[in-house]
Amino acid sequence: MSVRITTLSENGVAPRPRGLLGEWGLSVLVEVNGLRVLLDTGHSMSAVNNGDLLGVEWNRISAIVLSHGHYDHTGGLRHVLSRIKKTVPVIAHPDVWAPKYIQIFKEEAPTYIGIPFQKAELEGLGADFELTHDPAWLSDDVVTSGEIPMVTDFETIDPGMYVKDGEALVPDPLADDQALFIKTEEGLVVILGCGHRGVINTLRHAQNVTGVETIHTVVGGTHLIRASEAQMEQTMAELMSLGVQRLGVSHCTGNAAGVRLAQGFGGDFFFNNAGTQITL
Ligand SMILES: [Fe+2]
Ligand SMILES: [Fe+2]
Repeated sequence: MSVRITTLSENGVAPRPRGLLGEWGLSVLVEVNGLRVLLDTGHSMSAVNNGDLLGVEWNRISAIVLSHGHYDHTGGLRHVLSRIKKTVPVIAHPDVWAPKYIQIFKEEAPTYIGIPFQKAELEGLGADFELTHDPAWLSDDVVTSGEIPMVTDFETIDPGMYVKDGEALVPDPLADDQALFIKTEEGLVVILGCGHRGVINTLRHAQNVTGVETIHTVVGGTHLIRASEAQMEQTMAELMSLGVQRLGVSHCTGNAAGVRLAQGFGGDFFFNNAGTQITL
C-alpha cells in the first residue's frame, strides 16, 4: 500500500521548492494506491502555484472533498478546476453552501466567509457536486467523515461563526465540517480541514466509521486557535490516550496551541506547511 500526503496550500511554506506561496487556508493532496483526492483548495491561487511547483498531475485527480464551506478552504476552487480540466466529483455536506459569516467581536461588522463563487460557475468549470450528510467511501481505504457527532464535553463550536437566516445571524453549527480518513497497515491517517467540530470528536468518529482503533497520523487544522486552557489540556490528554503517534498541525491550530502540542509530542510533531510531504 502506498500513501502520500502533500500539503499544497497552508498559512506557511516549506523552504523548498523555492517559490511556494503561503496564504491563510488549507489544501491537501491525498494519494492512496493510485487514488488522488484533493481535500480543500486553499483561499486563492496558492494551491495551483504550489501544486505546479510540486509536480501535481492535476488531470489525474479523481475527486475534490470540501471540509466545509469557509472561503479559506474553497476559494481556490476556480483555479483548481481550471487545472483539472474535466468533470470531477466535489464531495461535501449540503450545508457547505450555507451563507456563512464571522463576527468575533460584537463591535465589528459581520464578514461573509462562505464559498466565494456561485455554484453554476463552478459547475461550468467541471464541478459535479455530490452533497451528502453521510461518509462517502472513495475506495476500500479512503472515506470522508460525513457529519461529525459532537460527543466530548469540552469541544464546542467557535462562537464567532454564524449563518444568515433571513436578516438574522444565528450560530453556525458547522455541520458541514468534515475530515478524510485513510485505513493503512499502520492504523488510521486522519486529515483535518479546520476541525471545527472538535479534533477529538473527529478522531472518535474516525474510529467508528472505519472500525479501526489505532490512530497513526493526524494532520491538518485543529481549530484550537481560540481554545480555552481547559480545552487545550483535555485535547492533549485525549490525543495521548488515543495513542496518536504522529501529529502535523496546520492553519487554524494557532501558533500558541501548536507550541503546546509540539511540547507534548516531541519528535513526533511537525508543522504541516505547504510543501510538506509525508508517506506511509
Ligand atoms: Fe480554515
Ligand atoms: Fe473554517
